[in-house]
Amino acid sequence: MLYAVIAAGGIGSRMGAEKPKQYITVGNKPIIAHTVQKFLDCGKFRRVIVLCPEEWCSYTDALLKKHFNNDCVTVIKGGSDRNETIMNSVSYIENTDGLDENTVIVTHDAARPFVTTEIIDRHIESSEIYDAIGTVIPATDTIIESYDGLTINGTPDRSKLYQCQTPQTFNAKKLKELYFTLTDEKKNILTDTCSVFSVSGESVHLVMGDVQNIKITYPYDLKVAEIILE
Ligand code: CTP
Repeated sequence: MLYAVIAAGGIGSRMGAEKPKQYITVGNKPIIAHTVQKFLDCGKFRRVIVLCPEEWCSYTDALLKKHFNNDCVTVIKGGSDRNETIMNSVSYIENTDGLDENTVIVTHDAARPFVTTEIIDRHIESSEIYDAIGTVIPATDTIIESYDGLTINGTPDRSKLYQCQTPQTFNAKKLKELYFTLTDEKKNILTDTCSVFSVSGESVHLVMGDVQNIKITYPYDLKVAEIILE
């Protein structure tokens, strides 16, 4: 059973707008509506679960009903950090439909409205073989390592470096098992959900993303988003 999980639980502090960035309009609709649209268009998900800050749940529900009026979309509250948000979706699925070996979640940042059908399809195909799948593009800038921000300590080989995007796809049962074996200290340093697998010694399959699949983070990104939409 396939579920789309849209992580919209952040407050967009770096954007600094009067509301969380996922509700800002680009083109003709809010960012979150562009993102949900991509997963509904795919037509392969039993449910599209949208997780947002608790105080924004009824607003989000009304907004998505206005745009889609689709029973397939469910809005629930997110968690204190991104991984807790993803784990809330796993609990929701467990409490409604139950989890089994075939429960797959395709998780995606609400703030990445330019994900393509091709990328989503790559994830769905790969989920028949792999328990964890990430999206990457090759690093274009040289990345250096610095311990103090003042001098270079190392320059990793760029041909082996990639930038991570979403979607990230998981066997939900396996994700739950691994997540709850991590210490709180480990949970706090993980910046994405693929790391739950990699720090546990489990492999993560990679599929190619797209340079346009940007994460809207700063005000500048809104301008880029408008240009991409044009
Ligand atoms: N996210 C989430 N739950 C959280 C925190 C973040 O679902 N507790 C989501 C965001 O809504 C976003 C995605 O994860 O779609 C990527 O996070 P980021 O770009 O860091 O979003 P924010 O946390 O909202 O931004 P900021 O770090 O600037 O506050």
